[in-house]
Amino acid sequence: MFSSQLLDRLSEAQRVVVLTGAGVSAESGIPTFRDQDGIWAHFRPEDLATPEAFERNPQRVWSWYQTRRTAIFKAQPNAGHRALAELERLVPALTIVTQNIDGLHTQAGSTDVIELHGNLRRNYCHRCRREYDDPALLTVEEVPHCACGGHIRPGIVWFNELLPEDALQRAETLAGQADIFFSIGTSAVVYPAAGLPEVARDADAMVVEINPEPTTVAIWAPESIRATSGQALPTLVQALRQHKSRLAGQPER
Ligand code: OAD
Repeated sequence: MFSSQLLDRLSEAQRVVVLTGAGVSAESGIPTFRDQDGIWAHFRPEDLATPEAFERNPQRVWSWYQTRRTAIFKAQPNAGHRALAELERLVPALTIVTQNIDGLHTQAGSTDVIELHGNLRRNYCHRCRREYDDPALLTVEEVPHCACGGHIRPGIVWFNELLPEDALQRAETLAGQADIFFSIGTSAVVYPAAGLPEVARDADAMVVEINPEPTTVAIWAPESIRATSGQALPTLVQALRQHKSRLAGQPER
């Protein structure tokens, strides 16, 4: 499944950066956005995932995210999440840059996760930006109010909003320093995250896509794996272990 060139590069890599999207959580039962039966096949993002939508109808947007929270908080990390946490222990430095808001990478044991689109466990006031970390808010049905009178909203990034500046800046810096950059389970169409594979390529990283369907990254990436992350990533970890043992002249495990 993986070329020896990839395994060589991965064995020698000082810095690995992994961009992930909704596809990585698909095998945990969380639907993606743009697949045939994805979320945006059933809902319009402009009704639910923009600041304007929240300002027009805060209760509607809040209720929709409360339903998503109920589903997402039940989900468990899958084999792909767990393999990425394991991969972190096999290389000197590995950072995950995720567009996902479900927190499953951290739950699986990954320790360096940049959440570009925020996290569903957080809330803040849409007007004054005060943060609310009370877990009771994660299940409350009525859209809560802040002390300032504004509405409290999920701590995630919507369309038409800027990404957290420090998170994006760190992601871009690390992409530019990567020896290997993986783009996994993302359609790579939503910027600025979708620009990171090119930042890495332009800085001479080896870019590898893992996705059952080819995206625009596959057009130029030297290695493209057509498999789900839950299938490909445990196989990659196993192959890397064997490759490293071979390089060290030890019997394979
Ligand atoms: P998309 O739904 O656009 O893309 C999901 C990708 O995952 C597709 O390319 C699928 O082929 C792939 N995929 C499906 N199942 C997979 C599996 N088991 N293993 C690996 N890959 C699989 O999701 P994102 O690229 O994450 O933003 O979308 C980016 C952003 O657009 C999201 O963060 C969200 C969305 O609208 C907002 O809501 C603001």
